[in-house]
Amino acid sequence: MQPTPEDRPITLSPSLPNPSSQPTPDKSVLQVWGNQPLSGHVTISGAKNSALVIMAGAILCSQDCRIRNVPLLADVNQMGNLLLALGIKVDRQGNCLDINAAHIAHSKAPYELVSQMRASFFVIGPLLARLGVARIPLPGGCAIGARPVDLHVRGLQAMGAEVQIDHGMVYASVRGQNKRLQGARIYLDYPSVGATETLMMAATLADGETTIENAAQEPEVVDLANFCRAMGAKIRGAGTKTIVISGVPSLHSTDYSIIPDRVEAGTFLVAGAITQSEISLSPVVPDHLTAVIAKLRAMGVQIIPDAPNRLRVVASERLSATDIKTLPYPGFPTDMQAQFMALLTLSDGDSVITETVFENRMRHVAELSRMGADIRVEGNHAIVRGVPFLSGAPVLATDLRASAALVVAALAAKGMTTIEGLHHLDRGYENLEAKLRQLGARIHRVTDGMETTSDSAARV
Ligand code: EPZ
Repeated sequence: MQPTPEDRPITLSPSLPNPSSQPTPDKSVLQVWGNQPLSGHVTISGAKNSALVIMAGAILCSQDCRIRNVPLLADVNQMGNLLLALGIKVDRQGNCLDINAAHIAHSKAPYELVSQMRASFFVIGPLLARLGVARIPLPGGCAIGARPVDLHVRGLQAMGAEVQIDHGMVYASVRGQNKRLQGARIYLDYPSVGATETLMMAATLADGETTIENAAQEPEVVDLANFCRAMGAKIRGAGTKTIVISGVPSLHSTDYSIIPDRVEAGTFLVAGAITQSEISLSPVVPDHLTAVIAKLRAMGVQIIPDAPNRLRVVASERLSATDIKTLPYPGFPTDMQAQFMALLTLSDGDSVITETVFENRMRHVAELSRMGADIRVEGNHAIVRGVPFLSGAPVLATDLRASAALVVAALAAKGMTTIEGLHHLDRGYENLEAKLRQLGARIHRVTDGMETTSDSAARV
């Protein structure tokens, strides 16, 4: 019988594809025949936005770290390849990752990996904390915005790092005898999730106490803090606007399980609502979805907590329009904006969606309009007028959450929708079409006319 990760001794060896392998251009499409209800239960995977930062956080520890409930995603593979490129041992067995950063070969993150996934920038804090030096390509912008890292840089400088940005490369180093960062009092101009996480990780091994004011309060920030505390870090206040970290000399092994993905869960709640279905999902943390649940209920969707970590969505009649404004947590999450827009295209009345977090996160509007939606964009507002139905059409995904919006729209549309640009989807959803098929959806991934599997993790 195959040993399971629990009883198998930790044999740390690279088990991820070669870091230099470029993802092949995506010729697959999703074919979706919509306008039919779903039923049954769907299992929610571990949170992508916890997994990526916690994998970087494992660099802080010079012993074995086991991370469980890691989703099989292209982005997780990318982060694994980045750790391998730094000489760190990574071994993946299904949804379980073993990482050992006892020996870090060097401090330079390869451009081709960082340019493909901005979350790679998360390694700068842990590398500075462990080695006192880090050379990370400046992450580029992406479809949804410029995505600057000035708050990360300014916070690290406040902790004593010298940072130069030259020819697209961030050179950071810590001077001084022991090459250790110094605790500092940092105020973030904006409650940036990434900057909060970078600075919290850097502070775990700094000399003295660091306070982060106006910190991000997202559940993934709390998950990272709990992971670091499990390694012996001294962190309090995660999940509030003020986080205090007392530096310690080193961190130790841990075996940690990641929280469920609240955005995947929200996406399935919307899928149930838009198809006027009754489906249940678990595991979920309802408190992580307060704003999403409140808005669904305001539209007339029933959300029933069947058990502490299980939700049931029941949507039968036509839904009422409602206004959405994205905000830092606990406000309505920007990562659910596109999926909600798809739902609002079929509600009764006019809805106004205001995107306040990213400057260019309305690119799904054009594709939803191809399906018959009535949406007008004015700056960072979208005015959505409900229509009686959507029609299947060929559409193109432009970013991760836009691709999810197109999938949920296709589930409700009359006729067939083909969705291109699946590399976006595979970054953030573990086997989405397989999960939807289990709920009765008619959805298939087709490559060169042949139906293929949806195991995105095997695709990078
Ligand atoms: C994280 O991105 C998530 N990604 C995003 O999820 C999520 O949308 C975002 O937080 C907001 O919740 C990961 O965790 C890997 P931010 P992050 O720093 O950290 C500006 C998804 O779909 N800003 O909170 O990059 C920035 O331009 C992805 O799963 C600065 O100006 O988000 C943006 O307008 C998309 N300077 C705003 O803050 C900085 O130094 C929010 O960014 C940093 C950010």
